[in-house]
Amino acid sequence: MSNLSLPVGAKGSGRARYAAAMDLYQVGQISPQVLEIYRIASALDGQDPEPMLAEIGEVSLAEQASGEEIFRRLIEESDRYLATLTGPGVAEVRARLNLWRGGPVTLRPCGNAVIAAHLGDALAALAVTHLALAQAIAAAAPYLTWHPYDSYPIAEIGAAFADGQAYASLIGEDATIPAKDYDLGIFLIAPHLLYRDHHHAAPELYAPLTGPHGWRFGPGTPLIVKPAHMPVWNDPHRPHMTKVGAVPFLALFGWTADVRQAAVVIPAGDWAELEALRLG
Ligand SMILES: [Fe+2]
Repeated sequence: MSNLSLPVGAKGSGRARYAAAMDLYQVGQISPQVLEIYRIASALDGQDPEPMLAEIGEVSLAEQASGEEIFRRLIEESDRYLATLTGPGVAEVRARLNLWRGGPVTLRPCGNAVIAAHLGDALAALAVTHLALAQAIAAAAPYLTWHPYDSYPIAEIGAAFADGQAYASLIGEDATIPAKDYDLGIFLIAPHLLYRDHHHAAPELYAPLTGPHGWRFGPGTPLIVKPAHMPVWNDPHRPHMTKVGAVPFLALFGWTADVRQAAVVIPAGDWAELEALRLG
C-alpha cells in the first residue's frame, strides 16, 4: 500500500496511486467506480482523489490502509480486555473472535448523533482504569459503521430508546470483518435511558465498560445495580432490561448464535417509574 500514501503533489504520485488501485481492483478489493476516480486523478499528481471519493461515499485507499491498522488494534484491545473477564460466555465470544479476526477489513464509516454526543464521556470514564482500550475505541470510532438498533416497533420500545442508542458491529454478518452467525460489537446508550425488557434467541455476552447501571432479568424481578467490568451473560430468550446511570452505558457485546433473529420487547407495567428513576 506504500504507493497509496505518496503525498498528493509528489512527482509521479498520480500514476503510482492509479497503479496501486489497479492491483486492488484486480483482486476485487475496490469497485470500478473507485478505480475510475484513481484513473481520472492519475494524470495530475496534484489532484487529490479524496473529495471525489467522498462524493460517492468511499474512503481513500491510503485512509483505508491506516484505518485498517487502527481497526485491528481495536480488535486486539477488545480481546485483551475480554481475557481479563471471567464467567459464562466469555470463552465462547473470544473463541469466535479469534476464529474470524484475520478476515478482510472493509471500512464503511457512518457517524451517529448519539455517538457524537456521548462517546467522549463514556471513554473519559473508561480511560481512568483502561487507558489503552479507551484510546483504541476513540481512534477507531470515526471508521466504524454506527447505527441505532431499530428492530423493535417504536410504540413498544419507546421513542427515547429509538433515539438514544447506537451500535457498531466489529466482527459479524455485515460487519467490518465478516463472520457467520456471530456478532461482536460496541453498544452505547445515553445517560438515564431505560432499555425496556426484551429477549432474543441469540445467546449474549455484555461486557460493560462503564457503570453503574441497573439490570433485571424479567418484569417484576428486582433491579440489580452493577458496576463497570462485571459481565452479563444471557442464555437464549432470557428476559433482560438495562437502566443506564449518569454515565453513558458503553459495552462490548457478543452474540454467539442465531444472530439473524431480532429481539422482542416484553411488556411490563412499571416502565414509566423506571424511566423517571435516577441511579447514582
Ligand atoms: Fe440483549
